[in-house]
Amino acid sequence: MSVLVAPSMLSADFLHLEKEIELVNQSEADWFHLDIMDGVFVPNISFGFPIIEKIALKAKKPLDVHLMIIEPDRFLERFRAAGANLISIHIEACHHLHRTVYAIKKTGAQAGLVLNPASPVSLLENIITDVDYILLMSVNPGFGGQSFIKGTFEKITALRELITRKNSRALIEIDGGVDLSNSRPLAEAGVNILVAGNAIFASKDPITTIKKLKQF
Ligand code: DX5
Ligand code: ZN
Repeated sequence: MSVLVAPSMLSADFLHLEKEIELVNQSEADWFHLDIMDGVFVPNISFGFPIIEKIALKAKKPLDVHLMIIEPDRFLERFRAAGANLISIHIEACHHLHRTVYAIKKTGAQAGLVLNPASPVSLLENIITDVDYILLMSVNPGFGGQSFIKGTFEKITALRELITRKNSRALIEIDGGVDLSNSRPLAEAGVNILVAGNAIFASKDPITTIKKLKQF
């Protein structure tokens, strides 16, 4: 059993961003998780292309870009050009999911779909074989440092079953309130990628925390 860890840079110290990027480079982390918020789909605004481009200049690991924006089709090429290796869009923010998933793939990035806590796994029934990964939100999106919603475990089980039944190769990513108290049960439930912001960057020793999140 092994999991990938994707530190959420939303919780990094933006005054010392280069140092934080180097920390992730040197750690056992697998991806950089970048949260893009538009102030419309979610009640917060984070950062955009200039910051992604700067992170891409220094990052030695793939950039996992989580779009919390409406009408993401408008910007897919630009996110890719800025350095995104993986791009995920919210099912709740997108009218023509199939088209948008293939538009992401056309840019050369891997395509992910994100479900909010209240959105059921059954919405994925007819798209699960088209995507590279599913991101299940375990908090309501918009902010770092929130508490993990326990009902997520039920959704992970349902998603695992759907992936098996449809013979899909999609990976499962979990985002929100992930820490050392739930990383092991999440991995045991079949999660492939853990996103963690506060648990890593607010810890005394982020490199060790990243190591522990991967260790069972
Ligand atoms: C929330 C973001 C998350 C968040 C995770 O909208 O998508 O990636 O930054 O932060 P923690 O791990 O602190 O919940
Ligand atoms: Zn995220």
